[in-house]
Amino acid sequence: MANEPLQHPDESSEDLVIQGHNYDGIEEYDNPMPGWWLWIFWISVVFAPIYFIGVHQAGFINSYGDDLAAGQAEIQAIRDAHEAANPSFVVDDSTLARYVADAGAVEAGAAIFAQNCLACHGPSGGGLIGPNLTDDYWIHGNRHTDIYNVITNGVLEKGMTPWGSILSPEQRAQLVAFVRSLHGTNPEGAKEPQGELYTGA
Ligand code: HEC
Repeated sequence: MANEPLQHPDESSEDLVIQGHNYDGIEEYDNPMPGWWLWIFWISVVFAPIYFIGVHQAGFINSYGDDLAAGQAEIQAIRDAHEAANPSFVVDDSTLARYVADAGAVEAGAAIFAQNCLACHGPSGGGLIGPNLTDDYWIHGNRHTDIYNVITNGVLEKGMTPWGSILSPEQRAQLVAFVRSLHGTNPEGAKEPQGELYTGA
């Protein structure tokens, strides 16, 4: 009895023991694969060539690279639209020149100067701790962008505060306009020149 092949009670079903498959007394029924398994198997068999051809040959299924490129193009379009709606402040001499020529910007700059800069540069920009801003001498250059950059980045080791994270780009441009308006005002008690002489300023 011990080595006789096991037989399912219902002989008419497929549950027949596979003859000869006997491993240390463990035997095997000849059951069909479960239906769900077969379904997945055959669907995979059908799907694989369609997918392969779709992605690699005919191109009617997007590859990962296609989807990525489409997604990036979408993000770029959103960024472009945002940039078009809110143009970022471009700091160059011609932008700053527009501020310098704009009386409203000079006035706005004067108010910001009175609040933040007066303590070091004097009420009329003649200089106290900081240098005279009304003369033709500049330590850090005489272009609009030079002045903008000093205001933005400061000169920490000399005691000039960096204003880049405190004042907006527009406010700094207004300050450039105000500083420019001080040129040649020659206020009383102005500090002696510092830096290099720029003629024709
Ligand atoms: C705490 C004092 C202090 C404050 C506040 C300050 N500055 Fe200055 N600033 C200085 C000093 C000191 C220098 C000179 C730096 C150097 O020697 O390199 C300077 C330099 C400058 C220069 C360059 C001058 C040159 O000759 O190149 C400009 C422009 C300037 N400051 C503008 C401003 C403006 C605008 C503000 C206000 C937003 C301001 N500063 C606030 C101390 C100050």
